[in-house]
Amino acid sequence: MIDTHAHLDFDQFDKDRESVISQATVAGVELIVNIGTDFRSSAISLALAEAYANIYAVVGLHPHDSKVWDSKTDPARLEKLADHPKVVAIGECGLDYYRNYSPHPDQKRAFADQIAVARNMKLPLVIHNRDAFPDTFDILLKNSAHKVGGVMHCFAGDVEQARQIVDYGFYISVGGRLTYKNSADPANAAAVPLEKILLETDCPFLTPAPLRGKRNHPALVALVRAKLAEIKQLDEDEVDDVTTAAAKKLFGLPR
Ligand code: NI
Repeated sequence: MIDTHAHLDFDQFDKDRESVISQATVAGVELIVNIGTDFRSSAISLALAEAYANIYAVVGLHPHDSKVWDSKTDPARLEKLADHPKVVAIGECGLDYYRNYSPHPDQKRAFADQIAVARNMKLPLVIHNRDAFPDTFDILLKNSAHKVGGVMHCFAGDVEQARQIVDYGFYISVGGRLTYKNSADPANAAAVPLEKILLETDCPFLTPAPLRGKRNHPALVALVRAKLAEIKQLDEDEVDDVTTAAAKKLFGLPR
């Protein structure tokens, strides 16, 4: 298994980060992709990737913080940070019209600029979209994001949108929400070929059932794999092989 979306740099892991990482290995997690949410978090992600052979980093700015993105200086700053053998993608970037922590024009500008960085660096994109699919897809199209590809992390949308993004050449990833009652995620996962689905935790958030309410961590990606196997009516080993191969293909691993 690969946990393609972890936030081990967050302070929820300050007390036991090392043990959380070794628990993941014991649970069969081969690699962890740690996702930056701003310049500071991206730098810490990269430091983790330098410290642990099984961790890779994604660097970028979350849509929540888009209002601080400086279009004059930040693209070059991000390219400099991304120019490292353990950086495997740009993100998480995108649009969040649910929380609206940054004005929409700022979100769109920071997103488009980061797609340009990804294209310059020939790196794929890790995309956050919440209640903003039409604008997210429009910005991907207008900025030719298919040239680098990417993943819509913790995909939240309907079956039509899931098919649209996969037809465009992108992956979707599924996490703990797949295990929740009344979630739309199982229908989306059922509608998309397994080769286009990645596993993730988004830890420390979105803890899979039956552990909801506790802190999430990479070892729990096994619960997501089990649920996906049930939906696809395949055994867990096959889901593991196919989703691991998909993640390695997208992120160009191992390096
Ligand atoms: Ni995230």
